[in-house]
Amino acid sequence: MQAATLAIFALALIGNTVAGPPTSVARAKADNVILNLLAESNLLGSSADPAITTECFNHFMPILNQISTNFSLQYEQCVSVATQATANLTTSAAQGRATFVNVTAAICSAFTSCNSDTDNLDFFNCYAAAASADVNEIYNLSADASNAAISLKGGLQQIKDTEKICTNNAQLTYTEQTAETYKELNACFVNGLPAVSTVAAN
Ligand SMILES: *[C@@H]1O[C@H](CO)[C@@H](O)[C@H](O)[C@H]1NC(C)=O
Ligand SMILES: *[C@@H]1O[C@H](CO)[C@@H](O)[C@H](O)[C@H]1NC(C)=O
Ligand SMILES: *[C@@H]1O[C@H](CO)[C@@H](O)[C@H](O)[C@H]1NC(C)=O
Ligand SMILES: *[C@@H]1O[C@H](CO)[C@@H](O)[C@H](O)[C@H]1NC(C)=O
Repeated sequence: MQAATLAIFALALIGNTVAGPPTSVARAKADNVILNLLAESNLLGSSADPAITTECFNHFMPILNQISTNFSLQYEQCVSVATQATANLTTSAAQGRATFVNVTAAICSAFTSCNSDTDNLDFFNCYAAAASADVNEIYNLSADASNAAISLKGGLQQIKDTEKICTNNAQLTYTEQTAETYKELNACFVNGLPAVSTVAAN
């Protein structure tokens, strides 16, 4: 029957849609528009009563649009949380960086303060003391900087992973709900609207 063919065609459209990120939202809406046009231009199954067909589309199109809108909102939520988390991490990394700069400035000033010693012996002793005090700080600084880099890199990766899981879940929900609704739409073409409609909402 042609209505079933149409629904399969529509599912193929959805499949394409879900493959590519944010524009897919616009595409999903466009798919619904195409289906509306097909319905209006009477390309639907010859066996289907046009009144039933229209009734089915009138019932299921708003549901499909709602699923699409929900997907869009969920997706944007995933992206916005990730953007905020990245901004937060960047802010705290910048604060950490300022601490490093200050520590280094303190190390340098321990040496430059020796320049004010007019006596050469005092100057050499000053440098020796500064170097011996600072050598530990420099090792410490090296370890801390290396840890900060690892932790920043890991943090950014984790944000990306979380975002990916989030958008995957949104797409999965979208695909499942849309597929379920198309199944019901197909059934509607055959049997008309069910008396009590159980719709693909959660
Ligand atoms: C970012 O930081 C703000 C303020 O500290 C906090 O309210 C928000 O929950 C954080 N967002 C994320 C995604 O970590
Ligand atoms: C770094 O030093 C400046 C000037 O001494 C000070 O204003 C600032 O709060 C310090 N920042 C950190 C993160 O220690
Ligand atoms: C050395 O490392 C410890 C622990 O990470 C830290 O608390 C301390 O401030 C560091 N000292 C310097 C000079 O960076
Ligand atoms: C869309 O989201 C709203 C609010 O979360 C929910 O009440 C509604 O059932 C969802 N609709 C569909 C078709 O999934």
